[in-house]
Amino acid sequence: MLFIFRLTPLFLFTLVAALPHNPINDRRAPSNRPSLLTVQTSPKHSLGNVGNIIAHDNLRLQQLRSSKGFSESTNSNGSSPVSISTTSLSSVFLMTISVQVGTPPTTFELLVDTGSSNFVVGANPAGPLFVATSSTQATGQEVSVFYGSVFDSVTIGNAAPVTQSLAVPNISEGFTLFDGIMGLGLQALTEGTLVNEPNQTIPTITDTLSNSIIPQPLVALTVPLSSGSQNGSIDFGEPDFSKNTSSISFTPLLTTGETVGFWGLSQTITYGNGTQGVPLVTEAPGIVDSGTSLLLLPTAAFQTYMNLTGATIDPSSGLLTIDSIDSLQSLFFNIGDTPLEFTADAQLFPRNLNAEAGLNASAIYLIVADGDTAGGGIDLVMGFVVL
Ligand SMILES: *[C@@H]1O[C@H](CO)[C@@H](O)[C@H](O)[C@H]1NC(C)=O
Ligand SMILES: *[C@@H]1O[C@H](CO)[C@@H](O)[C@H](O)[C@H]1NC(C)=O
Ligand SMILES: *[C@@H]1O[C@H](CO)[C@@H](O)[C@H](O)[C@H]1NC(C)=O
Ligand SMILES: *[C@@H]1O[C@H](CO)[C@@H](O)[C@H](O)[C@H]1NC(C)=O
Ligand SMILES: *[C@@H]1O[C@H](CO)[C@@H](O)[C@H](O)[C@H]1NC(C)=O
Ligand SMILES: *[C@@H]1O[C@H](CO)[C@@H](O)[C@H](O)[C@H]1NC(C)=O
Ligand SMILES: *[C@@H]1O[C@H](CO)[C@@H](O)[C@H](O)[C@H]1NC(C)=O
Ligand SMILES: *[C@@H]1O[C@H](CO)[C@@H](O)[C@H](O)[C@H]1NC(C)=O
Repeated sequence: MLFIFRLTPLFLFTLVAALPHNPINDRRAPSNRPSLLTVQTSPKHSLGNVGNIIAHDNLRLQQLRSSKGFSESTNSNGSSPVSISTTSLSSVFLMTISVQVGTPPTTFELLVDTGSSNFVVGANPAGPLFVATSSTQATGQEVSVFYGSVFDSVTIGNAAPVTQSLAVPNISEGFTLFDGIMGLGLQALTEGTLVNEPNQTIPTITDTLSNSIIPQPLVALTVPLSSGSQNGSIDFGEPDFSKNTSSISFTPLLTTGETVGFWGLSQTITYGNGTQGVPLVTEAPGIVDSGTSLLLLPTAAFQTYMNLTGATIDPSSGLLTIDSIDSLQSLFFNIGDTPLEFTADAQLFPRNLNAEAGLNASAIYLIVADGDTAGGGIDLVMGFVVL
């Protein structure tokens, strides 16, 4: 199940996903309130040439469509260690979390990724590498599709250590801002990552925590957008009810179609409010992906949005641009029965980052992009800027 609530008018959204087999409304009585594990995350951005945002998101989309959220390559015989590529995983806006692995521990800074489900450490050649310690155990799986695979002790926040299946890439590309990935997608996405057991899945960190530390596999992300100064957080087990400013509603994750395994949900998006609003998509399947930067709309919806806003595509960056925000209306995401307003300001590329991104500092860019419906598969992605 999943819910979303907004914490401040512009910048904070919180998303909570609970796996369908353990719905939150089965939660125990408040007197027996399960423990909440909250961990700080660090926001980062890597703008470089902003043309990359579009390129990154397009690559990411292809990888999401491959149902894993990252790309991997196998040897020609397909059986040996291979590499993991993070060209598109190192999305432009992202957040990371520090975790401790092993005994004695090594600290890894991991990408928080709702669009994949493996737990990858030691992938940054310039960062700490994985070392076997007294708590490292063989998995019994000789080699996974792209890595060596072990069990080891993992410490998240101030919780007791848990034993998690780790993937350690032999070869990796593009890991510079972080040392690995903490996949917060569902276990189903790990299917196919073990070469000898393609039908077997690997418990995610959320599954592992829910066996001992937290009462249910529930994750809530609190994401500060763009400022780069404010930490975000992840709540495991239950939402931190001190963070929501309005009541919380739940909507089931989609259980069929392309979005299975992701934080997939059905949504209706309108430009403008309520009955006066123009629907862009109606009960369309989409995913929430912290590894995508922008809001990707199905192609037809994107074109309607361009028409309604009068936006044009800036040829050099590929981003939409508008002359003035005066007539820009809110987008409304209707998920379950809760409309979430995404204001005009929230639809702007953070202007304080224009210059750093190589954009015209006085121009106005939008964070809505084309989800390439013609490419087939997932074409509606609520990326980091929407969280
Ligand atoms: C932000 O998170 C980092 C760890 O990721 C922590 O060291 C720092 O104290 C946090 N800052 C605040 C203001 O909580
Ligand atoms: C697969 O390729 C690797 C190196 O490319 C080689 O070491 C291994 O023996 C090959 N395995 C099979 C089953 O051919
Ligand atoms: C890949 O990593 C695994 C686990 O560390 C190791 O057993 C294997 O020998 C490595 N293979 C190569 C080609 O480095
Ligand atoms: C995986 O599942 C498919 C279909 O369910 C089956 O045809 C295949 O034999 C299975 N593969 C293994 C290695 O168990
Ligand atoms: C936060 O959500 C919970 C659950 O829906 C609700 O009971 C509580 O009143 C909400 N807090 C605020 C400030 O609205
Ligand atoms: C949207 O329209 C409804 C019904 O007309 C109204 O109650 C609500 O306040 C409006 N919301 C915004 C954000 O304008
Ligand atoms: C957008 O506007 C153009 C020109 O007015 C029109 O031809 C086109 O059909 C519109 N597209 C959509 C998706 O509304
Ligand atoms: C930058 O944007 C402003 C506002 O849209 C525009 O007037 C100006 O010509 C642009 N500068 C360049 C170099 O494109």
